[in-house]
Amino acid sequence: MIKNEEIILLENRYEIYLKKEIGRGQYGVIYECQDLLNEYPDKKICAKKITCFLQDEKSKREFELMSKLKIVAKGNPNIVNVIDVLLHDEHVILILERCEGDLSDLIRKRRRQQQRFTPAEALEIIKQITNGYKLLLEQKIIHRDLKPQNILYVNNTYKIADFGLARIADQFGIYTKLGTPRYSAPQIFWDYQYSYSADIYSLGIIFYQLIFDSFPFDAKDLQRLKHELFLLKYKPIKVSRDLPEFKLDDSIPNLIEQMLLYHEKDRINWTKLFQHKLIINNQFETKLINQVETQSINPFQELSIQETKIEKPSKEQNINQQTTDFQNQIIPNTQPIISKEISKFVEGVDQSYLFQIFVVFILLELQKRKL
Ligand SMILES: Nc1ncnc2c1ncn2[C@@H]1O[C@H](COP(=O)(O)OP(=O)(O)O)[C@@H](O)[C@H]1O
Ligand SMILES: [Mg+2]
Repeated sequence: MIKNEEIILLENRYEIYLKKEIGRGQYGVIYECQDLLNEYPDKKICAKKITCFLQDEKSKREFELMSKLKIVAKGNPNIVNVIDVLLHDEHVILILERCEGDLSDLIRKRRRQQQRFTPAEALEIIKQITNGYKLLLEQKIIHRDLKPQNILYVNNTYKIADFGLARIADQFGIYTKLGTPRYSAPQIFWDYQYSYSADIYSLGIIFYQLIFDSFPFDAKDLQRLKHELFLLKYKPIKVSRDLPEFKLDDSIPNLIEQMLLYHEKDRINWTKLFQHKLIINNQFETKLINQVETQSINPFQELSIQETKIEKPSKEQNINQQTTDFQNQIIPNTQPIISKEISKFVEGVDQSYLFQIFVVFILLELQKRKL
């Protein structure tokens, strides 16, 4: 039996089960929760209790942003659904759609199974996050902490979550150093001014990590990481093309390289990313499918396909071709008239006489025009 002190009842509606923890981050704890009104019967929900007090800058920010996202993000499947934003005992409590887990769980699971995400799978995840970001950009929100732990999934749909460090971009864009170092753009370490481009960099690191199950550079500690990031200025990241898929199509390594460039002015921006052929058409996947098909053809089969391509024309095709060539050589631009007359005349005549009949017509035509 659940004791009363283990449950928080909010708005006479939400029961939050404090003994049933789903997840925990640096600033919040996620608990199981039930909506007594059952307003969304097809959706499971959970509650995030922000650990710092309401007076805290971080709490205020999450309260404001989540209240905004509750209204504007409803139609976007790639942003975690905010059902309610409430206050309890000087703490912010968010009622959220409950997901199956976060992307870091999936990365760990693959590692245990000694598998990696295929480039096509990684691209699909990146595509979905990019779609979620469209709304953030529209609302002028910089996330500032994109990383696998903050990407949730449910039924193969990936969702941007945890807006604890996010903020509305302002005119000056001068922000404090925040985020998770491994996913943070160089500007977060050295420049006081950074923008949405910092989120592109984080997404580039996630993209790389999904495919290679590692980071683009070795960084055992913060010192080393900063050193590597500094070097990026002079030595941009070169993504390996060693995977068989990349030998055929290196558009993914090219894109990751563009996402991880040191200077924001050189790095691909969100508008360009939204329009990138990989994001719009999934062209990489199509190419992969073609590749699989080509690979499955045995060399002899391929040879026979080529042979059929240069097959000798049939007798009939030959006659028709000769007719056209001859006609175009002798009297240019006469094809429509002559063909009409021929077609009327030869109706029911054996095709093999067509060429001879045509020669007679040409001669008659030449005589008519006195050529
Ligand atoms: N809606 C949710 N559904 C399922 N799990 C969640 C949900 N929200 C968060 N989690 C889990 O809890 C962890 C911490 O949540 P998060 O919002 O990132 O808190 P923090 O602000 O402390 O980082 C996430 O990494 C994830 O594993
Ligand atoms: Mg988090």
